[in-house]
Amino acid sequence: MNAPRLVDTARLMLATGKGLLAMDESPPTCNERFAALGIPQTEASRRAWRQLIITTPGLADSISGVILFDETLHQRCADGTSFVKVLENAGIVVGIKVDTGAKPLAGHTGEKITEGLDGLRERLQGYSAAGARFAKWRAVISIGEGLPSTACIAANAHALARYAALCQEAGLVPIVEPEVLMTGEHTLQRCADVSLQVLHEVFEQLYVQGVLLEGMVLKPNMLLPGLNCSQQDHIDKVADATVTGLLRALPAALAGVAFLSGGQSAQLASARLNAMNQRYKWRLPWALTFSFARAIQQPALEIWRGEPGNVVQAQRALEHRAACNSAAQQGNYSAAMEAIDKAISDV
Ligand code: G3H
Repeated sequence: MNAPRLVDTARLMLATGKGLLAMDESPPTCNERFAALGIPQTEASRRAWRQLIITTPGLADSISGVILFDETLHQRCADGTSFVKVLENAGIVVGIKVDTGAKPLAGHTGEKITEGLDGLRERLQGYSAAGARFAKWRAVISIGEGLPSTACIAANAHALARYAALCQEAGLVPIVEPEVLMTGEHTLQRCADVSLQVLHEVFEQLYVQGVLLEGMVLKPNMLLPGLNCSQQDHIDKVADATVTGLLRALPAALAGVAFLSGGQSAQLASARLNAMNQRYKWRLPWALTFSFARAIQQPALEIWRGEPGNVVQAQRALEHRAACNSAAQQGNYSAAMEAIDKAISDV
């Protein structure tokens, strides 16, 4: 394992004032989001959307790395430049989603196990040769009556740790993503209990597999009440619960934390990340940043709608969300940033 290279890459990913942009939706997920806005569900549309993202002016001011899907890693801009080259030229580190999706867990109705370990060693070598310096694997845990099961948590934690060890062997920084879903009526406290149980198991398995904590990034959910919970807690309460939970479960040696957005609104995701950094940055052993997909892309996608004439406006919206999250990473975000942007776009 080339530990210094892994640590260097992780440091680049977690640079102050920067975070990660996830644009690694599989074609079916990407198509689903396109369908909702009447955008043609084709490879050409996906390429055009992703070209729009990576050529956004000023993106590298707030984004340290992007996570691509296999299809995107091999795509090119209209002028023939490969996406990887565009990103490298901008100083943005290239990452790749390497799991092959969450499938039903045998014997456990309603639960999933993420697959993709078979042949992963060889695939990682190919991704590294193609320019990737980090990878992502997402496990999903549902909260419900009797869920999650011990079996689901154990199987997913084990797979995450084996994936992470393979990545480090191949010289790629693993993003370890155990996502406790927001779907449901559960309270903030229930999400905190489940998330801690999951994180303890994940770090136990990472230790067993010998994963270098300084050379990996954790991508957790924020600790939140379920989307349908009648009590939606204040931003500060969410920040307190999330930071308290992470401090209890994460080793200090970990390189850093980059949250997923999980279906929160773009503004709320920025506000919550900001509250965590504003209130706690001084006492945290690791950086807290973002690795958002929907919370950065969605407002821009709603402007673009597949129309070439909307590209510039959509890129402005994307750059704005990235800048808001950059500010949130430093505890400098405020609702005024949204108001100023709206005033400018209304002119
Ligand atoms: O794996 C999940 C994505 O990388 C993050 O997506 O921010 O829309 O939850 P999200």
